[in-house]
Amino acid sequence: VEETYVMIKPDGVQRGLVGEIISRFERKGFRLTGLKLFQCPTELAEEHYKDLQSKPFFPKLIKYITSGPVVCMAWEGVGVVASARKLIGSTNPLQAEPGTIRGDLAVQTGRNVVHGSDSPENGQREIALWFKEGELCQWTPAQAPWLWE
Ligand code: GTP
Ligand code: MG
Repeated sequence: VEETYVMIKPDGVQRGLVGEIISRFERKGFRLTGLKLFQCPTELAEEHYKDLQSKPFFPKLIKYITSGPVVCMAWEGVGVVASARKLIGSTNPLQAEPGTIRGDLAVQTGRNVVHGSDSPENGQREIALWFKEGELCQWTPAQAPWLWE
């Protein structure tokens, strides 16, 4: 089944938005399979965002992501990658629709509070990068028959 890596960035943690952001995914009806508060080392941030290495904002991005703890999450479900991106909203929060996390809670691209994998392949890659095997948990929510037919 499809999995995505969602991360509350340091601004989301510092601004006290952790519960609010987790709630949106929880209420949507995906299954949480991994969750931790984590201080990201520089090398991991660089590996995670390696596709953006050549961008002028790359050093700022690495500094931002490593500037304080992040909340790492793995979410599972049919269509979860695209759906999580919709819940998160556009990269630039000023262009993100109201009702999305970035649309409701942020104003700048460089402080856009949350990350979501952009493809199922990257979902797999990023979960493997941020979590160790024993940190992930498969379980059946009590609500399962009311969420999934
Ligand atoms: P992520 O979910 O974090 O990967 O964001 P995204 O997929 O919406 O955007 P993208 O992967 O293109 O960029 C990754 C992150 O780099 C963005 O979320 C921003 O935090 C940061 N970023 C992207 N473009 C810019 C920019 O022009 N300026 C600055 N300061 N940061 C940027
Ligand atoms: Mg991205």
